[in-house]
Amino acid sequence: MVAVDAHNLKIAYGDTLIVPDLSLTLYPGEVTALLGPNGSGKSTVLCTLARLLQPNRGAVYLNGRNITKLPTREIARQLAMLPQSSEVPDGVTVWELIGYGRYPHQNLLGGFSTQDLAAMRWALKVTRLEPLAERVVDTLSGGERQRAWIAMALAQQTQVLLLDEPTTFLDIRHQLDVLSLVRGLNREHGITVGWVLHDLNQAAAYSDRLIMLTGGQVVAAGSPAEVMTASTIQEVFGVEMTVIPHPISGSPTCLPCNLGSSTSGFTPCAPKDYSLKQQGEQGK
Ligand SMILES: Nc1ncnc2c1ncn2[C@@H]1O[C@H](COP(=O)(O)OP(=O)(O)OP(=O)(O)O)[C@@H](O)[C@H]1O
Ligand SMILES: [Mg+2]
Repeated sequence: MVAVDAHNLKIAYGDTLIVPDLSLTLYPGEVTALLGPNGSGKSTVLCTLARLLQPNRGAVYLNGRNITKLPTREIARQLAMLPQSSEVPDGVTVWELIGYGRYPHQNLLGGFSTQDLAAMRWALKVTRLEPLAERVVDTLSGGERQRAWIAMALAQQTQVLLLDEPTTFLDIRHQLDVLSLVRGLNREHGITVGWVLHDLNQAAAYSDRLIMLTGGQVVAAGSPAEVMTASTIQEVFGVEMTVIPHPISGSPTCLPCNLGSSTSGFTPCAPKDYSLKQQGEQGK
């Protein structure tokens, strides 16, 4: 099982400092969610863990080895990353995109081995993309395209999976599919997962650890019960929530306290009192 450690990362885009000094660990065989408001630096941190971005200071270690010292191919055999947004070259089909995930495993002669093809078929199946295998990725719906990218990352069959908002664009069934698929891979194969999720309840239900970020800094890190508290949510997101145990699983679940307090001034309709209405109707 593989650990990812980030030590004292300082990350800037040009002169704009995004992450002043951040350390975190994705523990081997655990699922860790990075949470935080838009612009808090989640994607920036995830890209740095995957060596897609170079920190100005600090270092990332993959199982104790500094990733700047590792050949790209070796990193790609151990770590797959689903970026928040990616462009597909024109005309590439779902099957071809999934095949890109096998490049780190191919020998110099190229071509897909039996093992490559088995991994690609498996990735196609578990993302329910079999009927779309021959479709050009550009012609897919947002959710179908997202699943094609997830399939590519899965086909890479790495010990570490970094997923930036893998459930965005997906309907609820496919969201749950992806969350339980990744959780299942983690349980069965000890894959270390770091994912960015915006749904706090899904993050708490499907992760071992949560890391809450704001302004490029870690505000809280620990088990869902430790991190998902009303006061941390208030501090990080500036909204008042109540946290209750999920009625079936018991995982911490947050609900807005006051639907009418939005800054937009929107006040939802008052719940209709159907019992009174019915009585009134009966009395007519
Ligand atoms: N290439 C870039 N050049 C300059 N600034 C950038 C660049 N990419 C991101 N930023 C800025 O860095 C900050 C952090 O961005 P990042 O994408 O990491 O946030 P995030 O937490 O992933 O947000 P979101 O939830 O919206 O995806 C933001 O203020 C963003 O505008
Ligand atoms: Mg992001």
